[in-house]
Amino acid sequence: MNFISIEEALKKKSGKVAVRGWIYRIRKMKDKIFIVMRDSSEIVQCVAKTPKLVKEADELLMESSLELEGTLNKDKRAPNGYELIISKMNVIHKADDFPIGKDQSPEFLLDNRHLFIRSRKMSSIMKIRSTVFGAIHEYFRGKKFYEFQSPIMIPGGAEEGPTMFEVKYFDRQMFLAQTWQLYAEAAMFGLEKLYCIAPSFRAERSKTSRHLTEYWHAEMEAAWINLDELMDYAEEMIKFVLKKVIKENKKELELLGRDVKKLEPSLKKKFPRITYDQALKKLEKKGMKVKWGKDLRTQEEEKLMEAYDRVVFVTHYPKDAMAFYKPKDPKNPKVAMCFDALGPEGVGELIGGSERDVSITEIVKSLEKIGEKVSDYHYYIDTRKYGSVPHAGFGMGTERLIRWICGLDSVKDAIGFPRTMQRTNP
Ligand code: 4AD
Ligand code: MG
Repeated sequence: MNFISIEEALKKKSGKVAVRGWIYRIRKMKDKIFIVMRDSSEIVQCVAKTPKLVKEADELLMESSLELEGTLNKDKRAPNGYELIISKMNVIHKADDFPIGKDQSPEFLLDNRHLFIRSRKMSSIMKIRSTVFGAIHEYFRGKKFYEFQSPIMIPGGAEEGPTMFEVKYFDRQMFLAQTWQLYAEAAMFGLEKLYCIAPSFRAERSKTSRHLTEYWHAEMEAAWINLDELMDYAEEMIKFVLKKVIKENKKELELLGRDVKKLEPSLKKKFPRITYDQALKKLEKKGMKVKWGKDLRTQEEEKLMEAYDRVVFVTHYPKDAMAFYKPKDPKNPKVAMCFDALGPEGVGELIGGSERDVSITEIVKSLEKIGEKVSDYHYYIDTRKYGSVPHAGFGMGTERLIRWICGLDSVKDAIGFPRTMQRTNP
């Protein structure tokens, strides 16, 4: 017989089917054995009733792999409403005693992520993650962006020196990229609109629910656009992704217990745009005083977001607290033409973006101010000499978006095998 997925089998509702997968649950009785079988699509309750089948099944533990043939019957008591009466069983592999059961600590599950990754929870998250990645590609390609890749091993420079991983490169030192941006800006002159989803690396010592040392960064860069148009892209992209996930991953969101209503305001309503100055005023009203000039910290972002049910853009942060490539606002040189997109429900910064400085004098001044070696950025500065044009771009941590969409406690569960300061294994 031809094997079909459990999902397809359940759709058939009756008749003979052949399925294959793993034992999700097994309950042994004297004269019959219930096996809940799972594959990547679904679960189905199966029952072994003949003495021969019962004897064979009796030797099996959870996670053993099997091929089963049998007849589907309606059964209200079974999960999904159907039961498969087994007629033929082919054991592919008898599993050892599976170490993961109910109520294990998050740390234990992370230590055993190579096994926990097959759980229904992790599979649901990974399916949503797959939709998110597909949707980001679809969104940008639909808007006629080209996919462009930049090197992961770089000579130096980008966001913040101290948070770079060093790589021994023959007899020289290189670094792992924190962003695709500086190379994308060079490629922008040929492609105009480009995007990428690639790993970025941050040697951050923070042990938070938001930080990974290796994360997947969705970035875009476009010529001829300003800050408002940049935020339009960011908003449209998030809405596009949300719409796709809500449509395609109903089952997974339900399995994760996610209240989809919490996502709907971001799908249906416009994202508010407030300036850093306005944010500070709002915080002060809530009894939180932030000294002008400082970037917003986690607790401040959280406090600010208490008043919102959807993503919010905070714009025009103090120029001196921002990365060197963010230009000053011509109307107020103390602030930069930049934004952060903050997520609701305490997830914090989802996206950071800005217009890009086109003034060589200003770029050099900013680099010197933060003590960077200007010569490290020669290629970046060089791009400003030949037909420089206004342009802007942003970067989104995909795990932060996935964490929010799935309603997870930490970004660590939004990626298959997380890397953090403490965790390098498995
Ligand atoms: O705000 P960041 O540092 O901006 C940049 O890297 C720009 N060069 C992007 C650009 O304009 N092309 O990082 C962008 C986003 C953050 O908003 C956050 O979502 C995510 O990357 N991010 C992290 N995600 C997980 N773990 C970390 N340690 C992260 N650091 C940043
Ligand atoms: Mg940022």
